[in-house]
Amino acid sequence: LDNGVARTPPMGWNSWNTFGCNISETLIRQMADAMVSSGMRDAGYQYVVVDDCWFNPNRDGSGNLQGDPTRFPSGMKALGDYLHGKGLKFGIYQGPLDKTCAQYFNSYPGATGSLGHEAQDARQFAAWGVDYLKYDWCSPTGTITEQVTTFAKMRDALAATGRPIVYSINPNSVHAKTGPQRNWGDVANLWRTTEDISDAWDTGQTNGYPMGVKNIVDVTVPLAGYARPGQFNDPDMMEVGRGGMTDTEQRSHFALWAMLASPLIAGNDLRSMSAATQSILKNPRLIAINQDTLGLQSTPISYDGTRRVLAKRLANGDVTVALFNQGGSATTVSTSAAAIGKSGSSFTLQDAGSGATTTTTGTISASVPAHGTVVYRVSGGTSTPATTTTVVSAASGRC
Ligand code: GLA
Repeated sequence: LDNGVARTPPMGWNSWNTFGCNISETLIRQMADAMVSSGMRDAGYQYVVVDDCWFNPNRDGSGNLQGDPTRFPSGMKALGDYLHGKGLKFGIYQGPLDKTCAQYFNSYPGATGSLGHEAQDARQFAAWGVDYLKYDWCSPTGTITEQVTTFAKMRDALAATGRPIVYSINPNSVHAKTGPQRNWGDVANLWRTTEDISDAWDTGQTNGYPMGVKNIVDVTVPLAGYARPGQFNDPDMMEVGRGGMTDTEQRSHFALWAMLASPLIAGNDLRSMSAATQSILKNPRLIAINQDTLGLQSTPISYDGTRRVLAKRLANGDVTVALFNQGGSATTVSTSAAAIGKSGSSFTLQDAGSGATTTTTGTISASVPAHGTVVYRVSGGTSTPATTTTVVSAASGRC
């Protein structure tokens, strides 16, 4: 969506993965403080997204949304001011139908979705200083055509406010089940590619709830052709630092989200991050790959059912390669400079994990632990844009 924002994938934090409905202005302020004191803000994380359950189950007498009076007593504008005062940006959750997901599935009271209130709610968000809207279709019914019309209504309502607001949609309660995958770049800046992520490596499904990291990668890799500045596939918020995956799996998760040009939205408790979690989330080399101004998603180079190689071209001519071992035991994963569109006689490989560099005449290879990913930034020689031209046709999408 060409609305001037999300020229690179947004980075931030979202309340849902750790806190669900158990949120308050105190918690969100603490998280903003931790975002600054932990160095996450300075590493690039900006948006603080207040997910479902922030609102009063009743609109006011004029039909306006309002914050929950007990948990957000200062009001949403004050919360936005607090975040802006910290150099952060304000994100909020809402649904396009009559109910949000918590109202639909989790017995949260009320029916305060934006259906029929699109323009009024967009103006309200803009007045509160909202910089990012997560708009979540939460109903198993509807058609893709209805989804496009409904999501476009809020796109236009946000544009009419004149405030630059990142527009992040989740069409998956209908879309993922009926397929094929759609390029939502005409409607939104970000669109979820699957049902919800869970704090797990592999839930054994590619089209259901909940999804593991490996399953989401399987679904999102073929959608590379849809990503560009202003529009990115969204493989969901991160589970790094949540405790359900090994260190190797969490490092793989972050490396793959970086390569997929995914929004980097942390979902862990920022007030109590281990040193290992911080080293994953703040890795400057992987963040630079994710935030590269070309805005390209890595394209598939090879896959044998276990070993997956992806390549992402960067603005300065470097190409990054991910050597991903999906299998349960260590193995060597290999490709070549030629396969990723580099020609020449000598190349430098920088390991994006450790920062260490080596040189090669063409072979790009690593021993990769089970569920691990090694990312190299390949420089030297000349590059052709071969790795950027894969376009996914609708027919190859998931059904
Ligand atoms: C859906 C979304 C989640 C979260 C919840 C909130 O499941 O996919 O990311 O926003 O709703 O209820």
